[in-house]
Amino acid sequence: MVSFKALLKQQVLLPIIQAETAEQGVAIANAMQQAGIHLVEVVLRTEASIAALQAIKAAYPQMVVGAGTVTNADTLNAAIAAGADFIVTPAITPNLLSQLRDCPVPVVPGVSNAADVLLAVEQGFTELKLFPATLSGGAAFIKAMGAVFPQVNFCPTGGINDSNKDDFLRLSNCIAVGGSWIAPSNWVEEQRWQQITAACKVANTPALCH
Ligand code: 3PG
Repeated sequence: MVSFKALLKQQVLLPIIQAETAEQGVAIANAMQQAGIHLVEVVLRTEASIAALQAIKAAYPQMVVGAGTVTNADTLNAAIAAGADFIVTPAITPNLLSQLRDCPVPVVPGVSNAADVLLAVEQGFTELKLFPATLSGGAAFIKAMGAVFPQVNFCPTGGINDSNKDDFLRLSNCIAVGGSWIAPSNWVEEQRWQQITAACKVANTPALCH
């Protein structure tokens, strides 16, 4: 199976889309793709999330559209049925990991400590989300994990913004940073699409040294 890293290509930002309606999801995705973004994560936190994921895929067939906030078999199955191109979870349990093992698309399980990393690695997962990143040791944690789990790549999310993203992106075991700061709910409500495009352009600029 293709890796999440391969799906990212050159993108270093994993932009999160939280949509209250399918139309809103398409408008956010449109603003992001104007910034050169080809891969997004739709978080399954609203009633319209699955419809938004489907609508984005229909409107932009070339876009890679993942599902986030997957916490159980029901949300996993709904995401796969809707055509999610990858799956992100905020945390793991042995039960959730066993559900994820046969997933037909790349999975990025969420971890917050070294025991979680080991649990995920034991189950064959080597691309992990650190969540909530800034509260779970931040870039220093990811750097420390590199010495112990050199096979693991991280995509941190939670508390990341333009002022701290490069602390993460400078690390060779950090493949991207995720978050919602590039499309906060008030910008979406006020339809500030150009601001979302501009924020994505800034956030998707790679750190100078990697
Ligand atoms: C996530 O689902 O990864 C987080 O909600 C993103 O965190 P942020 O809103 O602090 O960027």
